[in-house]
Formats: sequence, structure tokens, C-alpha cells
Amino acid sequence: MQPTRELLLLLLPYLLAVALPGAVGGSGRFWHLTDLHWDPGYEAAAAAGRPCPSGGGRAGPAGPWGSYLCDAPWRLLRSAARAMRRRLAAPDFVLWTGDDTPHVPNEELGEEKVLHIIANLTSLIKETFPGTKVYAAMGNHDFHPKNQFPGKEHRIYKQTAELWQPWLSDASLPLFRAGAFYSEKLPGPGMRGRMVVLNTNLYYDQNDETAGEEDPGGQFQWLEETLTNASRADEMVYIVGHVPPGFFEKKRGKPWFRRGFNERYLGIVQKHHSVIAAQFFGHHHTDSFRMFYSPTGTPINVMFLAPGVTPWKTTLPGVSNGANNPAIRVVSYDQDTLQVLDMVTYYLNLTHANKMASAWQEEFPEWEEEYRLTEAFQVPDGSAHSMQTVLQRLSRDPHYLQLYYEFNSARYDLEPCQQECRVDHLCAIREVDFMKYDECVKTNSSASAASSVWLLVFCVFVGFLSPQRVL
Ligand SMILES: *[C@@H]1O[C@H](CO)[C@@H](O)[C@H](O)[C@H]1NC(C)=O
Ligand SMILES: *[C@@H]1O[C@H](CO)[C@@H](O)[C@H](O)[C@H]1NC(C)=O
Ligand SMILES: *[C@@H]1O[C@H](CO)[C@@H](O)[C@H](O)[C@H]1NC(C)=O
Ligand SMILES: *[C@@H]1O[C@H](CO)[C@@H](O)[C@H](O)[C@H]1NC(C)=O
Ligand SMILES: [Zn+2]
Ligand SMILES: [Zn+2]
Repeated sequence: MQPTRELLLLLLPYLLAVALPGAVGGSGRFWHLTDLHWDPGYEAAAAAGRPCPSGGGRAGPAGPWGSYLCDAPWRLLRSAARAMRRRLAAPDFVLWTGDDTPHVPNEELGEEKVLHIIANLTSLIKETFPGTKVYAAMGNHDFHPKNQFPGKEHRIYKQTAELWQPWLSDASLPLFRAGAFYSEKLPGPGMRGRMVVLNTNLYYDQNDETAGEEDPGGQFQWLEETLTNASRADEMVYIVGHVPPGFFEKKRGKPWFRRGFNERYLGIVQKHHSVIAAQFFGHHHTDSFRMFYSPTGTPINVMFLAPGVTPWKTTLPGVSNGANNPAIRVVSYDQDTLQVLDMVTYYLNLTHANKMASAWQEEFPEWEEEYRLTEAFQVPDGSAHSMQTVLQRLSRDPHYLQLYYEFNSARYDLEPCQQECRVDHLCAIREVDFMKYDECVKTNSSASAASSVWLLVFCVFVGFLSPQRVL
């Protein structure tokens, strides 16, 4: 391509914006921040030569900026806050998708301690972005006992609503107290965007409070109504939450939602996809995405799973080496349509930061740019269509799959992703539906491929080979 033509193409959106005011939105940016998991006991334990409280007895070196076996020490969180201010101090808004407390048993927490931790992190974010709108969602660890969120009013909802009151509209407050979900129009003149913040902890299979219920808190019905109203008002919506539907890409056959809730959620996205610009969730601590398709297989929506700030190595059985580097993310988007234009993820190489640190002195480490979505995967934007292209690249080209895999843990795990790993990631990205996921794993797993080979050998041997049936 000629350089002048390239320049013209680059400028085209701006030229159009000038020529057709209102037709093309400006581009804005926001932070997505998730899974901070502050371990308030980290420093004291390190000073005393004991393992950190969140380590679950796993002994390991506790560096000044954190440890892969532990949740975040305070100075790691301060370092993240400082990195955010330096990279983008005045975002349009901030998404904060929860999980503030350390991975320690309920007995070591309690309602007051959980609320104290939420309060402390709320202040940190307020100080980092004074006057900025923050859309905050509760994570499954932001409750006592963990995961046990009721679909009705609760003291913890009320207290959290108090803490977040400066960020919530008057209409959101009573909704939040009653179920910890709400929706608000995005700020800014002429904006037709809406943020829908869900409490998907109600759908978590570890939640005994809502186990027998069909629509805990009436959230599904409320979501459908909210999306219907948005469509009538010509709005576009972001859906934000903590626990995502679908499967964990690092453990085969591991979903989070109960089956019925997963189906209902998927059905709502399929029905209302035309007003949903994108979905942003956390909980995995890893960097991935989920595709949503129409019943005929057209890509209709995408959910971005943001990597966590805590580096904590998961204790989930069956996950090998499941830690990550601390990461944070800026999303650029079209302020009119909410179309995701790009995403830049920043990460802290924790090994490096700890190695460079001279004892426990304050000298903030650098959070480097890890990757830019459009550059790394050669797509024009973060639309569902583009993310389908990304998925195809991951499926077909081992180079892209490996790139994705390294980003998945914010460059903590640089091992090659082959065979089982490949299937686990690709099927989790492709299939949010329980049955389709199982099918995807079954038809693509090397175990089943190997057994087909044996079946083939057997059929040839017996002499009734039917190629269509085997291949
Ligand atoms: C939060 O905790 C940190 C570390 O203990 C402390 O320095 C800070 O003052 C606390 N902030 C608030 C608002 O409680
Ligand atoms: C949807 O709009 C109707 C009519 O304006 C309103 O009464 C209702 O409360 C709205 N529902 C939600 C969930 O916002
Ligand atoms: C992180 O830092 C360590 C120690 O300096 C280094 O060995 C490693 O290669 C770095 N990782 C990446 C992804 O750059
Ligand atoms: C897995 O198999 C299905 C057929 O069931 C196929 O459509 C899909 O492309 C395969 N997925 C992967 C990840 O290779
Ligand atoms: Zn978490
Ligand atoms: Zn979580």
C-alpha cells in the first residue's frame, strides 16, 4: 500500500467525524481492573519469615512486590494504582469487577473484615481516580461467608452500597441494596451507552443460597427488561460482572454457573445481542475471551475476561502451574456505539520486579505494555466479528495460539500449548453452552482422536470399514 493512501485510511474516521457530526462517535478509553485480592497479612508474615496467609501453607519466597503463591501485598496494589495514573490518569470511567479479599478460610475473615477490605480498596481506587465514575461489581470473595450471596436484601449489600454511593446514581442505590446489581446511562453529552452491572455470584455453583431458585433476585427478568428498554431507547449496552458463564480454559469441564443459569444467560444474550456491545468479566485471573453465536452459528457477541492483579497460583485441583503476572487493561471504544476499538494490557513481570528490588525499599517497578489486541492478532477492532477471526487464527496457526497462551497468564507461563491445552482453550473460547462445550472437547480431544485411530485399525482388521462413519 502507498504511504499516502495508508495515511488517508488512518485519517478516514476523523475526516468522517468532522464531515458527519454525530454519525461517528469519538473514541474514548476506560480501565478494566479485576481480582485485586489484597492480602493484608503479607508484609507481617514476610517480616516474621512465615508463609503469607493466602498461601495456604505453600512456602515460597515472598518478594517485596508479591509472590506467585500469594495474594497481593499492599505495595503491589499501590504500584498498580500508580501505573494506572501514569498510563491513563483520566479515563472516561473505570470497570472494577471485584474479588478484593485474600484466599483464606472464612474463619480468618468475617463480615467486618471483608467490609474493611472492600472499604480500603474502594478508597485506593477513589484516590487513584478522583471524580471518575467507577462501575463496580461484587466478586464471589466480597461476601461472608464467601460465595453465599442471597437474591434479596442483605447487610453486606447495604454497606457496600454505602461505600460505593459516590459512584452510584440515586436510582441504583435501592437496586444495589436489594441484590447488588444495577444499570446506569454512561456519562457524557449525547452518549447513548448504558452500563449493566450484574451480580452473577447468584449463579455460582458454590452458592447454596440460590441453589433451588429459578431467578434469584429477579435479576434475569430485570436484565431482560433493561435490555428491552435499552433497545427502545436506541441505547447500546456493556454487560459487566465477576463470575462469567461458560468454562474455565485452564481446567477441562470446569464451569462456574449452575446449568440452568448458564442456559438462561446464554438465551438472554442470544435474544438481545443487538443492543449488547460487549461483556466484561473477571474471576479467572487469566486473560481470555468467550464467543457467543446465534442458533445458526453467526458470531453475535464477545465477552472479554480480564487478567487479575493478584498473582496467586490457584489451588484448583487439575490446574497445573496456574499463577499469573499482575495485569491491568485499557479498553478503547467508540463513545457512540460502544464498539470495542482496541485493548492494551499492561503487566508487571513479578519475578523481575522482585529481583531488581533492593531489599524492601520503595522504588516502583515498571508495568510494561504487554500487548495491543489489534496489533498482536492483526484485526481491525474488538468486535464479535474480529474476535471470531482471532479465534480462527488461534485454531489454525500455532504461532497465534502460543501468543494467546502466553498472554493468558500475562506471560507467567511460557510453556508450549499443545494437544490437550489447545483443546481446553479453544473449546472454552468457542462454547459457553454446556452441551456444545462437551461435544467440542469430545470431538477434538487427542484421547478421542487416538481411540478413532484404534477403531479404524479395528474396522480395517475386521473388514467392514465405513469411511464416513469413522472420519
Ligand atoms: C488501607 O490499608 C493500607 C495498608 O494497611 C493503609 O496504609 C491505608 O491507610 C488504608 N486505607 C484506608 C483508607 O483505610
Ligand atoms: C423499563 O421501562 C418501563 C417503562 O418506562 C419502566 O416502567 C421500567 O421500570 C423499566 N424497566 C427497567 C428494568 O428499567
Ligand atoms: C521476567 O523476568 C525474569 C527475570 O528477570 C526473566 O527471566 C523473564 O524472562 C521475564 N519474563 C518475560 C516474559 O519477559
Ligand atoms: C471441534 O470439533 C467441532 C465439531 O464438533 C468443530 O466444529 C470445531 O471446529 C472443533 N474445534 C476445535 C477447537 O478444534
Ligand atoms: Zn478472584
Ligand atoms: Zn472470583
